[in-house]
Amino acid sequence: MCMIKKYVFGKTIETEAVVLSVQESPLSQFPFLGQNEKTFSFSYKMGKNDKVYGLGEAVRGMNKRGFLYKSKCSDDPVHTEDKSSLYGAHNFLLVDGKERFGLFIDYPGEITFDIGYEKLDELVIHLNDFNCTVYIMEGDTKTQIVREFRTLIGQSYVAPRWAFGYGQSRWSYMDKEEVRSLVAFHRENQLPMDSVYLDIDYMERYKDFTINEETFGDFEAFVEEMKEQKIHLVPIIDAGVKIEEGYDVYEEGVKAGYFCKKENGDPFVAGVWPGRVHFPDMLNQNARAWFGKKYDFLLEKGIDGFWNDMNEPAIFYSEERLNQLFVKLQNYSNKNLDIQSFFEFKNLVETINNNPEDYKSFYHEMNGETLRHDQVHNLYGYMMTRAAGEAFDELSPNKRILMFSRASYIGMHRYGGIWTGDNMSWWSHLKLNIQMMPSLSMCGFLYSGADVGGFGANVTEDLMLRWMAFGIFTPLLRNHSAMGTRRQELSTFESITEFKNLLQLRYGLIPYLYSEYMKAVLENSLYMSPLSFEYEEDERASQIEDQLLVGDSIMIAPVYEQNAKGRYVYLPETMKLIRFKSLEDKTYEIYEKGNHYIPCELDEVLIFLRPGKILPLSKGGMSTEEIDFSQLNYEVFGEECSYTLYLDDGISKEYPAKEQWKKILYKNTVIMTENQ
Ligand code: GLC
Repeated sequence: MCMIKKYVFGKTIETEAVVLSVQESPLSQFPFLGQNEKTFSFSYKMGKNDKVYGLGEAVRGMNKRGFLYKSKCSDDPVHTEDKSSLYGAHNFLLVDGKERFGLFIDYPGEITFDIGYEKLDELVIHLNDFNCTVYIMEGDTKTQIVREFRTLIGQSYVAPRWAFGYGQSRWSYMDKEEVRSLVAFHRENQLPMDSVYLDIDYMERYKDFTINEETFGDFEAFVEEMKEQKIHLVPIIDAGVKIEEGYDVYEEGVKAGYFCKKENGDPFVAGVWPGRVHFPDMLNQNARAWFGKKYDFLLEKGIDGFWNDMNEPAIFYSEERLNQLFVKLQNYSNKNLDIQSFFEFKNLVETINNNPEDYKSFYHEMNGETLRHDQVHNLYGYMMTRAAGEAFDELSPNKRILMFSRASYIGMHRYGGIWTGDNMSWWSHLKLNIQMMPSLSMCGFLYSGADVGGFGANVTEDLMLRWMAFGIFTPLLRNHSAMGTRRQELSTFESITEFKNLLQLRYGLIPYLYSEYMKAVLENSLYMSPLSFEYEEDERASQIEDQLLVGDSIMIAPVYEQNAKGRYVYLPETMKLIRFKSLEDKTYEIYEKGNHYIPCELDEVLIFLRPGKILPLSKGGMSTEEIDFSQLNYEVFGEECSYTLYLDDGISKEYPAKEQWKKILYKNTVIMTENQ
């Protein structure tokens, strides 16, 4: 059984999150208890054992029950468990218990999801007004509900295969020499790598679509030089456009009226990295088309990947607020600051950035309507990435371009992936990374990952090793860290051999990871899933919050605690543990269904192979180009095993049909491959 119902309330704003046309159901059939106040809330009584999955990028566990979450794209680098929102707004929930259904609330403003926060057994969804579309999906299994939802929202973005290689990043590599020596270190030490990220300092004074000629001069030749070393350079693009006479992007935008405006019609002025900026009105189709074409400046120079940042949009200050602040601060000079006045004073400065009032002070032109930003806040990052994605379809019709964004809304998953923003070098954030990945899969953000090693704070070598041992399973594998923190490039550490082994294992796994990723894209399934999605009837499996299924063949149980020498693992069925010291150095153990304490040293990776399944492995390579997809080894568990291998050229936008996927069979100790 499979069914999607659609309920339309009030006058909705077309977000284009959904691609499937679904017939509207009468509101009298809406199955939830609604409250008709000025705002809109509806609630559902949860059963004692109901679990609630979803919400994509959010804090806390895979089962979201027990907290209050907000869909509100937020530029907040401190992802502690008391935070309600991160950078993405992913309004999808899957309730699993006495009833089983999925919910998608298509609404571009702020939403609160109280999932057993006020009352243990109540799920309350609260919106600021009445204008939204609610989709309810029913199905026999959780996987089926996810498939319905993903069919509703359309096929996920496909990254080029090279983007499955290792990427090294830092805020920032300051010049070509720094990049060259980083690449040389990797190549000399046989540390596989496919990309180097360029953070804001490659630009001329943080102006989008410019190059700092002093430090990155002759950029095109440099891109080519890196390509010869099989390295893709991936520059950042920020949302704000610097206000500067003579800067073409600024001048064109002003002339065409493409920037977000204040109530009086003047362009809204905010402060971000370059100082004062305007925000392109990404929600306006013409402005979007214009901004998207700007990426060509870098495409023409040979660039084939980007990351979109600060697109919540992040606001350090608005011009008005900053001016008011300076006036107000005068009142405090020469004053004896006491308990009250000191905190007032402190608060004045501390609330200057990302101030909710500023988000109410500018406007968009969307489909002929003027909309105040806070009503459509969650669409900004989505539409910025869409601007690029739509432009790439024209500018690069046959070649995939890497794109991932910080802010997002469902719908954006068709144009790019995401990274999970400014995490910290904390053990708890490694755990958060593990727990967030399946929720991102549910919401269609398949090409995603966190800053491996942590962005803020100082990393330690053991944390880096453990994080990498998990990161090698995420589609985006990027080590990125903030300015001012301890260096996090692999050259910083003593464990070069261990990192080499980890990265070579990643490159060995790419045929499998890429195949599972592409199948998840093309079949609307999960790339990473909680155990409960596969072992539906296993009550214990539904409580496992720190193990994952990666694709169809394997389960992983990463170590995420400081000084741990192993961990407890729950096996929902008998599995074959492959303990990798490196791609070549591996041992096997069989574990029965049940709980086991399994040792795992800092230089080991545990992969649990499911019965009847196959794990294909390549012989590795220093870059993804070097991987020989025609010479695979196969790990098997059982007398008869099978696997469907998806293979393509990794770069074009045409994907082989299911009939062409390769069937791999193992029987009587022999591997046979055939097309299905
Ligand atoms: C933001 C991004 C981070 C980047 C920094 C400088 O904090 O999230 O990844 O390094 O800006 O551009």
